Order: sequence, then structure tokens, then C-alpha cells
Amino acid sequence: MMQSIINISAKTQYYLELEEKYSAHNYHPLPVVLTRGEGVYVWDVEDKRYYDFLSGYSAVNQGHCHPAIVKAFIEQSQKLTLTSRAFHSDLLGDYAKFITGYFGYDKVLPMNTGVEAVETGIKLCRKWAYEVKGILPDKAIIIVCDGNFHGRTSTVISFSSDPDSKKNFGPYMPGFVSIPFNDMDALEKALSEKNIAGFLVEPIQGEAGVVVPDEGYLAKAKQLCEEANVLFIADEIQTGLCRTGKMLACDHENVRPDILLLGKALSGGMLPVSAVLADDEIMLTIKPGEHGSTYGGSPIGCKTAIAALTVLKEEKMADKAHAMGELLRDELIKLQSKHISWVRGKGLLNAIIIQHANKEAAWELCLQLKENGLLAKPTHGDKIRFAPPLVITKEQINECVAIINKSLVCLD
Ligand SMILES: Cc1ncc(COP(=O)(O)O)c(C=O)c1O
Repeated sequence: MMQSIINISAKTQYYLELEEKYSAHNYHPLPVVLTRGEGVYVWDVEDKRYYDFLSGYSAVNQGHCHPAIVKAFIEQSQKLTLTSRAFHSDLLGDYAKFITGYFGYDKVLPMNTGVEAVETGIKLCRKWAYEVKGILPDKAIIIVCDGNFHGRTSTVISFSSDPDSKKNFGPYMPGFVSIPFNDMDALEKALSEKNIAGFLVEPIQGEAGVVVPDEGYLAKAKQLCEEANVLFIADEIQTGLCRTGKMLACDHENVRPDILLLGKALSGGMLPVSAVLADDEIMLTIKPGEHGSTYGGSPIGCKTAIAALTVLKEEKMADKAHAMGELLRDELIKLQSKHISWVRGKGLLNAIIIQHANKEAAWELCLQLKENGLLAKPTHGDKIRFAPPLVITKEQINECVAIINKSLVCLD
């Protein structure tokens, strides 16, 4: 039996219908209409307050409307927002120096959305393969992992293993082979094939339901890539920027990716800002006119990203994510709910797996959580991601676990 009781007011209904009628049906959101956010909280149009346990898919690690990031954004928006890359701005150099120093790379290539960073990483890897490694034209292969999620462009969905992402969007881009995630033998075998240019991997598979690989996987994978002269490309768009308890998820194993992809929290949720970081041997294979973006590296993006990165370090958000993540998982396990078959994650990137005869149980639980003041979203049917902003406190975690406990009753 499931008994989630959902209240939808006339005002909320108005906004739901408006979206339904005029906006494409490419998402299936929870029936909640938000209008305001601050820190770990968001408010709906009825002024009901919720804990945000999704954080814009990890884009608002620093918390909603962080004052220092908002200040930087507003100040820059009143001065100069966009030059395009046809001209220089007095911020791109500053930002490039700042972010390359921050992560320890020679160069940055600024883009906007996460998937653009992934596309850029793929293009860069291919360029390097042809011009440095010496792979014959159009033969370069990039190894990816089953269950990956790297975004929605036609190239990136070409190597997705999710049928919903792919169906009727073909023809697909060649040049990728997919292997099981967290499988060293499969990687070793794939790397022994001809024309391998790169290995593109999420250090923890987020959209797949927070799949954490075995300890040592990333370090060993990096070592095998080095031995095979293959670029290790880390998609840290969701796992990076303190989410998992370190600045990068790769830092847990002291792995330095050859190409590092960042996005989401790079602007703290203000505007799309993504970045590709690499050393000169790789980055300088791309020459003027060969790649770019009108908004990439805009003054407003640069200024906002500097503020967003500064806040992460100043407020020790990696340490907070680590400590609060441990607490959250411990408390969830202590619930000993018969409806939760698994609690997993690292730092504040976590998921529970729902065990229930009804396939809609995770969705129903999310509806009930919403009623009780916590917003989370199922992924892949039976998994619910719990990834609040990293500014969450111990008291707030305890309150959230109480909400989750109370909500689980609807699945009895
Ligand atoms: C690991 C990873 N890569 C890439 C993307 C795509 O980012 P965007 O939606 O900003 O294009 C996402 C988005 O969820 C992601 O989680």
C-alpha cells in the first residue's frame, strides 16, 4: 500500500498548467513551483519552505543565492557582461590565471554548459590524438563507461547506454567504445586495442544513481592510461567543486586528470559556466578559429566563477561536505527502514535505493518528502539522490533525516 497525500493549490496548478501548455515536455518535474532560495532552502509560490536535496544537480553547492557570488554577479552585470572572444576583456586573463592556479594546470578553455565542456574535452582529445600521439585521421577512439551521463548533445548521447536518451536521435557519432564502469580488466583490455585516444569517466557516476567505484579504481585507471599513452579525461561536472568531500572526486585517490571538465557549481548556480583544464601539450593543439563559444569566458562568467571558487575554499566546503555526508549516511542507515535497500555515496553526493513491490515507490516517496518539506528527485526508477547544498548544518541534517523517516511511512 502506498499513501502519499499530495496537496496542490490553485496557484501552483496555474503555473503547472502554464508550463505544460507552453514549455516542451522534456522533463518530468515534481509538482512544486519555486520562487525563492537561500542557502539550503527554497520556497514555493505559497511561501512553503523546503530543504533542497538536489541543489540544481549539484550546481548550487555553495547554497542558493550565496551573498558573495550574488554580489560579484551584480557588480559585474552593471559594468560589462559580454565582449565575445573577438575582443579581450580585463577579466579573462585574471580568471584564467586564477582557475589554472587553483587546479594546477597550464591552461583553461572556458565554455558555458557542462555538456559543452564534455564536447570540448572530446575535441581536444581527438586533436591531441592526431597531432601529438599520431593516430591516423578519423581513427581515434575514446573509451567511455556503461551507465555514463555526460549531457545531451548528439555526440554525447551517441555513447549513452540509456535508451531514453538515444531513441530516434540517430545517426550516432562513431569513435567511442563503452566498457563496464569500475571494471579494471575491461579497461585494460580496451586500452590494448589500436587507436585509443582517451578514457572519459565520471569519478562517481551521478545520474546512474551515485555509483561509487571501488577504492583504487581511479588511481589504477589513471596509471593504465599513462602506460598506454591515453588521456584520462575526468568529468567532474557533478562530482567536483567539493561535492564529494574533496575539491575534486579524483583528489580522493590523488589522481590528476589529463583533461579536467568542470561546470555546474563553477558559477554557484548563477549562470552556465563550464571549464576545461589541461596542460599546454594538449590545450595548444586547438588554434584560433578551431573552437569557441560566444558566451564562453564572458566577463560576467569569469567574475562569477572567481567568486564561486573563492567561496568554496574560504568556507571550507570540502570539509563540510565530508563531515555532513558521513552524518547523513550514518543517520539514514540507523533508520533501518525496510524500504531502503542501500545507502551509498561520498561527501554530500548520496543516494538511497528504494525496495518496494511498486515501481513508482521512489516517485511516491519524493511526493511525500515534498509534502513534508524536502525536495528530492528519483533517478533511474528506484534511486533517490540526496545532495543538499554544502552549507547544510548538523541540526539541519538531523531534521532532514526525521523528515525522511516520517515520509517513508507512506510506503508501508
Ligand atoms: C557528470 C555530468 N556531466 C555533464 C553534465 C551535463 O551538464 P549540463 O546539463 O550543464 O550540460 C551533467 C549534468 O547533469 C553531469 O552530471
